[in-house]
Amino acid sequence: MASLVLYLSATVLFAQSTVAFNCSKKPIYVDIHKRAVHDSPVFQYGSFIGLGTPSQNQSLWPSIAQNHTSFASHEYCSNSTLKSCDKSTGGFFNPEDSVSFVKQPSFQTLDRGSDASFSGSFGQESVRLYTHFFETEGASQTLLENSTVEVVTEGSIIPARLGMGSSSTVLRDLAARDMIAGRTYSLYIGQGFNRAGGAVNGSNTFGGYDSGRFTGTPHQYQMNIANVNPMSVRIKDIILTGTNDNSNVSLFDNTAFPEMKSRAADFEAQITTEQFPISLPYQITKNFMARTSAEKDKDNTWGDNSLRVKNSFNGTLSIVLEDGYTITIPSEVLVNASNITPIQERTEDSKAPFYLGSAFLGQVYLMADYEMNTFFLADAVQKNNAVMPVTFCPKSVPEAYQRPSQSQWQRQGLIGAVVGGVVGGMGALAALYCLVVVFYRKKDERKLQKELKKNEKTKMAQFDIEEAPTFDPPPSKVSKARFWKKT
Ligand SMILES: *[C@@H]1O[C@H](CO)[C@@H](O)[C@H](O)[C@H]1NC(C)=O
Ligand SMILES: *[C@@H]1O[C@H](CO)[C@@H](O)[C@H](O)[C@H]1NC(C)=O
Ligand SMILES: *[C@@H]1O[C@H](CO)[C@@H](O)[C@H](O)[C@H]1NC(C)=O
Ligand SMILES: *[C@@H]1O[C@H](CO)[C@@H](O)[C@H](O)[C@H]1NC(C)=O
Ligand SMILES: *[C@@H]1O[C@H](CO)[C@@H](O)[C@H](O)[C@H]1NC(C)=O
Ligand SMILES: *[C@@H]1O[C@H](CO)[C@@H](O)[C@H](O)[C@H]1NC(C)=O
Ligand SMILES: *[C@@H]1O[C@H](CO)[C@@H](O)[C@H](O)[C@H]1NC(C)=O
Ligand SMILES: *[C@@H]1O[C@H](CO)[C@@H](O)[C@H](O)[C@H]1NC(C)=O
Ligand SMILES: *[C@@H]1O[C@H](CO)[C@@H](O)[C@H](O)[C@H]1NC(C)=O
Repeated sequence: MASLVLYLSATVLFAQSTVAFNCSKKPIYVDIHKRAVHDSPVFQYGSFIGLGTPSQNQSLWPSIAQNHTSFASHEYCSNSTLKSCDKSTGGFFNPEDSVSFVKQPSFQTLDRGSDASFSGSFGQESVRLYTHFFETEGASQTLLENSTVEVVTEGSIIPARLGMGSSSTVLRDLAARDMIAGRTYSLYIGQGFNRAGGAVNGSNTFGGYDSGRFTGTPHQYQMNIANVNPMSVRIKDIILTGTNDNSNVSLFDNTAFPEMKSRAADFEAQITTEQFPISLPYQITKNFMARTSAEKDKDNTWGDNSLRVKNSFNGTLSIVLEDGYTITIPSEVLVNASNITPIQERTEDSKAPFYLGSAFLGQVYLMADYEMNTFFLADAVQKNNAVMPVTFCPKSVPEAYQRPSQSQWQRQGLIGAVVGGVVGGMGALAALYCLVVVFYRKKDERKLQKELKKNEKTKMAQFDIEEAPTFDPPPSKVSKARFWKKT
């Protein structure tokens, strides 16, 4: 009897907690890589999103601070300090060429918290989210009509941005129109953009996460909605490990850096895509410089005040969060052939917040639940060959895709097999549907090998692609049905 009561109350609780969200809604997957964008002569890196009717295709840089999704107007470059502006905006949008654009002259911006690095005007327009799993196949479109967007007319930064801040209009509209389960969103920023100098591409998943993109149990943190960057973590240690001697030194350790009277204190750092480098407290930056013989980069090569090492330094940097979760920046990211590090210079009197920029996000998968104001971090799978977007039901904890064991992977010389799957179902009770299974051909492997040889020095972990199985079928039956039987 007691167990029946328990069962009933548990059922009621479960029903209450999910009633507001339809977690059978499939997520929307939008990949991030370099492509042709409207009115630009070069390929640009970003989220594959089009605007207007007919579509003017763009590459939008994801921002987890900005709430509006924004696009460059043609006049942007005459009013901008952005370097190589005509090739760097992420595309251009011309409202006159679209039959669906409606001006909203009196619209009040939701982005009042930003330091006004650009400005523009607002309008309602058709936003086209493209899902494009394979270069060889066409893209499919999710149409978000009459969504408010910003057309940027002046500023200093890349204006084409996917606004994924805590009041994101795209996420709000998708959820309000029942197109996704709730206001959940996941991001892997990738490393295929110029500043990162890598090859691996990223992805956005609206109302979901790519379960093939991370491993291990995700670590959960609370958002701070009062901040423009609502996602921050506390850092309790940073360790430099020399690759050759396997030596460890904590940049917090006053015995290693006698200049400090006591061990450095924990500090809070905001996760952001607004800058690439990592910005640390002054003393810790100083310790890093001392240990790696890094100095200010006089040319400020990337315009982001990243430090440069004088001689080469071969080692990794591990960032230890308050809960013990440790993220390691690999040696080829910490110092690459041009000796630029992803650590930003810092003045003693700077009051700016500490940041974990895109260099950090290149190593982790970020999953945000804006319904609960929580977010998750997990180790990103860089050499991913399985794209497995699943629903991220609000209040649930994302689960990594269980890879088939190595023995199941057949040695056929195929690489980069991609499995596009979508899991629907309520939270943990998930059904798995396989969307697409495509294998890249031997030809591509040869191409990759050639690429690798050509660029031996820039070789990064993500090139090391796992060999693919011939076929990785989805589970034929609903798994985890046990959950319901447990009474
Ligand atoms: C939930 O979404 C699924 C898939 O879109 C749909 O078939 C179903 O009717 C929805 N359920 C409710 C209660 O809205
Ligand atoms: C990333 O995307 C580009 C297309 O812009 C593609 O050419 C490249 O092969 C992709 N990189 C990887 C590592 O898959
Ligand atoms: C921006 O450029 C356009 C056209 O080049 C010009 O008409 C406009 O006045 C400029 N705006 C500002 C604020 O400079
Ligand atoms: C986005 O909205 C949130 C919540 O309303 C606000 O705290 C934040 O400052 C906004 N972002 C920007 C860039 O202003
Ligand atoms: C924009 O991208 C979509 C999806 O790939 C494609 O169908 C369309 O032709 C593109 N538009 C232009 C102008 O290239
Ligand atoms: C978008 O706006 C147009 C014109 O105002 C209207 O006809 C259409 O129904 C709207 N679509 C949606 C999905 O609201
Ligand atoms: C070094 O890093 C920069 C970005 O910091 C990148 O653009 C460049 O391609 C990298 N060079 C090598 C040789 O890896
Ligand atoms: C760093 O050390 C590792 C292991 O000793 C070695 O494989 C790698 O080539 C070194 N890298 C550089 C840039 O010296
Ligand atoms: C440095 O730390 C790593 C990771 O904890 C450990 O494996 C290694 O043995 C340490 N090296 C030394 C010299 O203690």
